[in-house]
Amino acid sequence: MTSQISGLDVRFALAQAIATEAGRVALDYYNRRETLVIETKRDLQDVVSIADREVENLIRARVAEVNPGDGFLGEEYGLAPGDSGYTWVVDPIDGTSPFVNGMPNWCVSIAVLHNNEPVIGVIYAPCHDELYAGATGKGATLNGKVLTLDPSRTVRNAVTGIGANNYVTPAFVGKMVEDLLTAGGNFIRNGSGALMLAYVAAGRLVGYYEPYMHAWDCLAGYCLVKEAGGWYHPFPVDGEQLTKGSPVLATAPGARDDLMKIAGL
Ligand code: IPD
Ligand code: CA
Ligand code: CA
Repeated sequence: MTSQISGLDVRFALAQAIATEAGRVALDYYNRRETLVIETKRDLQDVVSIADREVENLIRARVAEVNPGDGFLGEEYGLAPGDSGYTWVVDPIDGTSPFVNGMPNWCVSIAVLHNNEPVIGVIYAPCHDELYAGATGKGATLNGKVLTLDPSRTVRNAVTGIGANNYVTPAFVGKMVEDLLTAGGNFIRNGSGALMLAYVAAGRLVGYYEPYMHAWDCLAGYCLVKEAGGWYHPFPVDGEQLTKGSPVLATAPGARDDLMKIAGL
């Protein structure tokens, strides 16, 4: 089928190939993680290593080889604007805390924006060998299997993913957990917001809410959730907003109203 957006197909295939290659490189670092020097960023819980930087460098280089006019925003090295109308938004390793602590809940997250919309979302979880791939008008898949959300799932009969970092107060986090439990829901936090958004697309979680995340954490997952039949709260990406944080919420259709209320959106 021919894509409606010129240049989408080639970038969708490229994003999947790059995510898989980058994931293998990251997995090699993960398997020898005791040799990595762990540095901290905003606080002692916010960790990073050479693995994050080298994986981002690899993804940047691969994109530049094929589409030198595309913009690129990565968590580790920031924004390099382009002129093609496409911008790649990449978290080389989402879930660095699980990664350095030897838990498998981490992933490579690659989104591509076109006209300020996330038109491609690819998330690869190397420890599970799971490739989530979605693009506008093409649906979402997990290892090639089409993902379609079940409208009967709600916060009450399914599990909601949540996340938090030190941009928000402990009291705020306590209140959002309290409100979710009061609504009859329950929660999981696995340490990778991007992967939990992919789980929403896969129907494993009924929604994901985090009060403050960045574009590289959420845009790939947003595209996947939408293509699986779900909904997301738009993330501001115009100009400088692209590098700033914002609330993140994506849901299956039956959880939208409850989670919007809990998130105050
Ligand atoms: C973090 C993870 C975590 C979320 C944080 C993110 P990182 O990303 O997605 O689950 O709660 O807000 O910053 O640091 O592992 O790339
Ligand atoms: Ca992240
Ligand atoms: Ca990261």
